[in-house]
Amino acid sequence: MGIDRGVALPADRVPPTHRAWVEVNLAAIRNNVQAIRRLLAPSTQLMSVVKADGYGHGAVAVARTALSAGASWLAVATVDEGIHLRRAGIEAPILLFGPAISKEEVEAVVEHRLQPTVCSLDQARRFSEAGLGTIRIHLKVDTGMSRLGVAWQEGQDLVSALKALPNVTVASVYSHLATADAPDSGTAAEQRRRLSHLLDVLDAQGARPSLVHLANSAATLAIPQTHFDLVRIGLAQYGIYPASHLRPIVPLQPALSVKARIVFIKTVPAGTGVSYGHTFQTGRPTRLATVAIGYGDGVSRALSNRIELLLRGRRVRQVGTITMDQCLIDVTEAPEASEGDTTTLLGQDGTEHVQAGDWAERLGTIPYEILTALSARLPRIFRQG
Ligand SMILES: Cc1ncc(COP(=O)(O)O)c(C=O)c1O
Repeated sequence: MGIDRGVALPADRVPPTHRAWVEVNLAAIRNNVQAIRRLLAPSTQLMSVVKADGYGHGAVAVARTALSAGASWLAVATVDEGIHLRRAGIEAPILLFGPAISKEEVEAVVEHRLQPTVCSLDQARRFSEAGLGTIRIHLKVDTGMSRLGVAWQEGQDLVSALKALPNVTVASVYSHLATADAPDSGTAAEQRRRLSHLLDVLDAQGARPSLVHLANSAATLAIPQTHFDLVRIGLAQYGIYPASHLRPIVPLQPALSVKARIVFIKTVPAGTGVSYGHTFQTGRPTRLATVAIGYGDGVSRALSNRIELLLRGRRVRQVGTITMDQCLIDVTEAPEASEGDTTTLLGQDGTEHVQAGDWAERLGTIPYEILTALSARLPRIFRQG
């Protein structure tokens, strides 16, 4: 996994050997976490979700920044992601969103003090029977996502059974919302109602764990009733809104930019076919610049002929099919463009900006997929401000 590749450098000191890179503005992440924290009651904790290498931003740097800005928990999807944080010296509690299945996974979870999700008595028994000390487990309840979790109607019986198991403590009960990013989501309200019903029953038995959580970024912004004891923040801490109607609630600043250098420029006559398949034909004598980034870096080939890059503060069209390592831009209107110039694919240059959401819209997907597709080949450069 390419998650050790980040370097902390001022952005104007990008190594000249880098042909293309991701720049992460850690100050933006800090500001975003602080802004989200201000939406929470003082006693509500904030969990920073840094799975998939911190949504492509660099898990360790994001985790450290979020913890210094008011997060008290981290979350990852895989055991390896958790181990990576521990090996970097991070001591905060880490929730593992996925259950541990194999004996080796169970041992690794315990050794690295990760806190696993369990969805069934069998999954909890793996920890109980491992005899590796008392393990804090987090019970995932399915209130409507239909992915991981015990059915909410069966939550009460499972909590009772878990309480009887040696070597495990139920540290939290949690659930995940399927439609929190939809305006006025009735489904989210129903999921909240189901979780609350289970909590009422547990309360009556004195069995409610001290930590209950439900909200992701969208719910944290839009539905304060879902905050419970802790909120799990992924996308919003990276400065991206899960849906545009959430913009007025809190100011967020995107933290990530994708940049690449121009490595060659030439002028071709009108009527020239450009790149594989000649999906673009020049309609005039055209100054073409080759930019050293392609779908091997995570710039989807399906964006070919559909995006603009930023160069010296203005927008330039990407033309022709995006290839594995390179793509082309039309710099006819930018005569000052020269080899070695830095272009911005995602991020801001002067007053212009392109956001992950712009690409997502064109591709019929979501910003999460754009960010996590940025490949390990792109070095991460961290800025503090
Ligand atoms: C269980 C769980 N909680 C929280 C999150 C964070 O979601 P978001 O990035 O929308 O804040 C995720 C992300 O997929 C998740 O799987």
